[in-house]
Amino acid sequence: MKTLWLDTIDSTNSEALRRLPDLPSCTVLAAREQTAGRGQRGNTWFSEPGKNLTFSIVLKFGPGAVSARDAHYLNCLASLSVVSLLDSFGIRSQIKWPNDIYVGKRKICGMLLENTLCTTGLAASVIGIGLNVNQTAFPRLANATSVALELGQVQPMEWDLAQTLECLLRLFEERLPLLSSPEGRQELMADYTARLFQKDVPAPYRDLLQDREFTGVIEGVEPDGRLRVRDAEGGKRFFRFKEISYLL
Ligand code: BTN
Repeated sequence: MKTLWLDTIDSTNSEALRRLPDLPSCTVLAAREQTAGRGQRGNTWFSEPGKNLTFSIVLKFGPGAVSARDAHYLNCLASLSVVSLLDSFGIRSQIKWPNDIYVGKRKICGMLLENTLCTTGLAASVIGIGLNVNQTAFPRLANATSVALELGQVQPMEWDLAQTLECLLRLFEERLPLLSSPEGRQELMADYTARLFQKDVPAPYRDLLQDREFTGVIEGVEPDGRLRVRDAEGGKRFFRFKEISYLL
């Protein structure tokens, strides 16, 4: 993987999408500062300049290599890379479906995946990752955390962002070949499911289509990427992104 560091950019995802025709696969755009970082659901992603990792991985696929139906395995790959990195720091994290990384009930990392399609499936994917590393105050966010906050008592120091990114990218690259085979995708899904936040635990959710709260138990993720939740009556419910919210 080749990393290009940018001092200031609006958003590494926007820049990667603008430069997509010219960037080879496995290029990473990392920014010391984003002036208009983008989050899920049109939200803004705030990150103190120079403190955290904000970067986008560009992947390009050969014709038919990854079908549009399998796009959600990119969530598994990216989420597991971050979880493995945090494991290596001694921080136990979990994946809040589809791709938020939580430590306890606090969010340490968010992702924004933007794909381009062709007739045979995925043409390219821009995997944007914001991982809180050295930031210790989050005035605008009630439930955010960072590597420094989690390890503060043990290791009161600043983490080297470039080195941390290289570790994360190595973990990403190790699992990347798994995307290309059914067995590999099964392995990705098994590892991903094992780290799902609130799996097998009764918890409150809101069904956003019916606009109703319910108590459910996350059982896993379907091969098409939908979240499978068992409700109090024993019924199975299936959710796509933006159809369910966690009531934390
Ligand atoms: C979310 O949890 O809402 C997703 C946040 C994604 C933030 C990252 S930071 C790097 C990349 N560039 C962006 O503008 N967004 C993603």
